[in-house]
Amino acid sequence: MSDIRPIKDDRRPKVYIETYGCQMNVNDSEVILSILQDSGYALTEDIEEASVILANTCSIRDNAEQRIWGRIEQFRLQKNRRENVIIGIVGCMAERLKDKLLDSRTVDIVAGPDSYRSLPELIRNVTPETPQMNVLLSQEETYADITPVRMDKNGVSAYITIMRGCNNVCSYCVVPYTRGTERSRDPETIVREAAELFDNGYREVSLLGQNVDSYLWKDPVTADRNVNFAQLLEMVARISPELRVRFSTSHPKDISDEVIYTMAMYDNICRHIHLPVQSGSNAMLEKMRRKYTAEWYLGRVRKIRSVMPDCGLTTDIIAGFCGETEQDHRDTLALMEEAAFDAAFMFQYSERPGTLAARKYPDDVPPEVKTARLNEIIALQNRLSRESNEKDLGKTFKVLIEGVSKRNSDELFGRTSSNKVCVFPAAGHNIGDYVTVEAVSCTSATLIAKLIQ
Ligand code: 5AD
Ligand code: SF4
Repeated sequence: MSDIRPIKDDRRPKVYIETYGCQMNVNDSEVILSILQDSGYALTEDIEEASVILANTCSIRDNAEQRIWGRIEQFRLQKNRRENVIIGIVGCMAERLKDKLLDSRTVDIVAGPDSYRSLPELIRNVTPETPQMNVLLSQEETYADITPVRMDKNGVSAYITIMRGCNNVCSYCVVPYTRGTERSRDPETIVREAAELFDNGYREVSLLGQNVDSYLWKDPVTADRNVNFAQLLEMVARISPELRVRFSTSHPKDISDEVIYTMAMYDNICRHIHLPVQSGSNAMLEKMRRKYTAEWYLGRVRKIRSVMPDCGLTTDIIAGFCGETEQDHRDTLALMEEAAFDAAFMFQYSERPGTLAARKYPDDVPPEVKTARLNEIIALQNRLSRESNEKDLGKTFKVLIEGVSKRNSDELFGRTSSNKVCVFPAAGHNIGDYVTVEAVSCTSATLIAKLIQ
């Protein structure tokens, strides 16, 4: 069995890894570290002592990529000072831009999300004259047997990737191009990884996929032993009642009643669903190729709330998609009110080259209108989040302690099952403990609580 924590060894050459983008990228960086540790490297948090510098990148919006270009400029300074340092750009931007990244002459290695097994070889073969690239996408889950080396600070909460890729092709989204088509991972390897984390003191696992509801494992030998997402959730939940299970991301068109009922059956499956709506306008949803309507979405919300009244519901929203009218925008605000989201990630539409939207629809909402609409969406969500927190005042919650509060070292923080951040007095409790608290006040982002036991 490989180490699940970074090896400390001064004699090893050092790798420095910077991670951008989503939770899956965080977990991929842990896969990368596992592969590099097995080939003799050790992690460093000091870029100056690294012989290999990797940036695990994101392409979801243009500003995510602009940030990385800025970082590449800074890596160039490292290179000017230390001739032999190797700079690698990996992840979604590597997959999207391929050899364009090599034109900068700062980057030595370009490796896409499915090619991390070849990193040791790419590093070995690199010379100043011969940069290395591997951007092949896979049809299979390529990392099922790799034990990620956990880089989190607390040892409480860990990510487990259960599927990769996406077959949905939403018209605005670059992910199918950077991460390829859907493939699910063998459930036995997922359960083994979760059980090993639990044995190592972890108390929460988040099952990750671009679209977890379409998780489907087909046994290669006996085709009748298929495992769907609801069944996988149950398998992981049964490891221990003390192990919390979360998951992300669900697609509104795919989240099944079976998943909702499975959640309700197990107290340790957290009462939280991240259900990106993107827009409240049917015209926009159609153009986005989301394959549901606002009414369908609200029907799913009602179903979730009828089975689990205490379930946290969060979403993603895009402001200013192609052709969005003032009325479309109003429809989004109205849907937000009706769904009463607990929290949301909110973005301005950013055209991504090569996507269906970029080819078919002009990006015609003026930037200042996009910004104004986004600000309105954010202001509304702030109110909804505060109202949601105010409803929780006086209620008690079981919280898993994740760390020490940044503002006050006498306070700890953790999350409720519904994914709300709670801050409360430490009173001798430790990171990784469960405590019961009562919410006594709140902001729009946090519940402030007192200990009950
Ligand atoms: N522009 C803006 N936001 C986007 N997202 C995905 N693609 C784009 C884009 N081109 C948002 C969606 C998605 C989240 C991960 O990022 O809301 O759910
Ligand atoms: Fe960014 Fe999407 Fe790639 Fe994650 S999958 S790194 S969010 S582009």
